[in-house]
Amino acid sequence: MTRVFSGIRPSGRLHLGNYLGAIKNWITLQEKHDCIYAIVDYHAITTPFSPEELRENVREVALDYLAVGLDPKRATLIVQSQVPEHVELGWIFQSISPVSWFERVPTYKEKIVQHPEYVNLGLLAYPALMAADILIYKADLVPVGEDQLPHIELTNMIARRFNRMFASPSRHSERSEESRGSRDGILRRSTPQDDSTGFFPPVKAELTHGARIMSLKDPKKKMSKTGDEGVALSDSSDEVRQKIKTAVTDSGREIKSGNDKPALTNLLTIYSEVSGLPISKLEKQYAGKGYAEFKAGLAEAVVKFLEPIQKRRRELEKKKGYVEEVLDAGSKKARPIAQKTLEEVKKKMGLT
Ligand code: AMP
Ligand code: TRP
Repeated sequence: MTRVFSGIRPSGRLHLGNYLGAIKNWITLQEKHDCIYAIVDYHAITTPFSPEELRENVREVALDYLAVGLDPKRATLIVQSQVPEHVELGWIFQSISPVSWFERVPTYKEKIVQHPEYVNLGLLAYPALMAADILIYKADLVPVGEDQLPHIELTNMIARRFNRMFASPSRHSERSEESRGSRDGILRRSTPQDDSTGFFPPVKAELTHGARIMSLKDPKKKMSKTGDEGVALSDSSDEVRQKIKTAVTDSGREIKSGNDKPALTNLLTIYSEVSGLPISKLEKQYAGKGYAEFKAGLAEAVVKFLEPIQKRRRELEKKKGYVEEVLDAGSKKARPIAQKTLEEVKKKMGLT
């Protein structure tokens, strides 16, 4: 059975970008596959945080997961720090990977500009922990937004490197290839079959249709959890209306998508995704009409889309102890799988 793994950092409540870019796929995948979805709290401490907020955010994200339709009977929901084997494997991966692989990761470069006061080693090593999250379950598919593709590529590089160094029948001859020196210390693949026969299987990213949702304030930036750049899944109707009313638009008056209209393209994408109507139909519907009317229509479509999610959220909030129970059960189910992989890895490396 195909195994699926994905995770989200508990750095705030989930927004439409998280839903349309990633979680929409998670829900579909849970029907047919063996899915593990994580709240990756160890990743959240690589950017500034407060302990109280972190604790609160883990619960908020769990409530969002359940409210959008992730079903603990179908998918295993875990908190990363409750399965500490991820971190142990993460350390192993850091220790076998060249620093240069991490220094060129785009999100690292972005984050050090965003938080120049908090450039920590965890931030640099972030993708090694992410690789461990995925590979500890030997997952085949990882449903994520487009921004995560470099991390998935790095996950595969680390997996291949581990396979070559410690889990390939002919590893001794390949080691000597390394000692002869290859650029960045990255070994070349000896045979094309390596990927499928190695200890860690290759990992594939699964992108959604609306793979990248942009900020309502700046269509060059992706929608994030900060300020009023994004619509949270738990925003009230008034908040949604206000945020959409003040969303930036492009010059001109036409309601049209296109390369020269990044803000409208984004708003039309959101409208299309939440209403199920194709963009071309929305463009026709709003031809000759003003931005105010378009935005009012979009706001109502978003409010309507969020209504059932929020109703479920309110019901879940009332069930005392339920969220904790789900997360506890999930971690208990996932942990033996993680322990088994880690044990095998350590054995292969002489770490017993
Ligand atoms: P994050 O909130 O950065 O932890 O991201 C969690 C998941 O949501 C990842 O799979 C991201 O790729 C995805 N995601 C986050 N922001 C966006 C966005 N603006 N558009 C599409 N996908 C996103
Ligand atoms: N890096 C992801 C993000 O910022 C979160 C994440 C951590 C993740 N570990 C993962 C996603 C494993 C998929 C699989 O959104």
